[in-house]
Amino acid sequence: MQHEVLIAPSILSADFMCLGDELDRIATADYIHFDVMDGNFVPNLSFGIPVLKQVKAHCDIPVDVHLMIRNPDEMIDTYLDAGADMLCFHIEAAQHAHRIISRIHERGARAGVALNPGTSVTLLDSLLYDVDMILIMSVNPGYGGQSYIPTTAQKLKKLRALCQEAGVSPLIEVDGGITTQTAQEVCSCGANLLVAGSAVFCGDYAQNISDLRTAGKAGMGQQV
Ligand code: DX5
Ligand code: ZN
Repeated sequence: MQHEVLIAPSILSADFMCLGDELDRIATADYIHFDVMDGNFVPNLSFGIPVLKQVKAHCDIPVDVHLMIRNPDEMIDTYLDAGADMLCFHIEAAQHAHRIISRIHERGARAGVALNPGTSVTLLDSLLYDVDMILIMSVNPGYGGQSYIPTTAQKLKKLRALCQEAGVSPLIEVDGGITTQTAQEVCSCGANLLVAGSAVFCGDYAQNISDLRTAGKAGMGQQV
């Protein structure tokens, strides 16, 4: 059981003209959240392999790669070769989810599965025992800076119940519209890994990370 709240700043909100400096300013993060968008599964393009290699060369913080791409089955090895420490794909886009998870594990990385806001957690039934992390999207994927969808709380509670019933405790990541307020809410419902883009990359990044962690811990202490 994870009792800490982990923070994963999404570098989608970073200033790409000075990405190295931006990474240095989030040195207290637990993961770097790396959003890969293909302009097909989601209506936007972001970055991919060459940028991931440079991020890995620059710092030691583990990288949490969020693949928002069609056919992730075909790209798993490429992202592992580039250094993904945790590799997460969307259940809605995968052909063979179980095979992907097995492959990620064979290659020594951690495997995550992501769910869009419109996708039920019951789909995870047969994967719960195999995944290291479950990513619950709290916005529709494709853009940073969107507002948190409030029904995420109910979904997290359902997921917590499913995990308890199965006797498993994967990391529960929430992504989209995370602020100190929503951090507290999602952690009170079982989340323990928070992605934040716009709430980290403004003002004092280290302070923002620390504030999110404090808010998340407060939520974890008030389980609902
Ligand atoms: C959305 C991405 C998120 C996004 C979060 O598709 O998966 O990781 O960058 O950004 P904020 O925290 O600004 O909602
Ligand atoms: Zn993401």
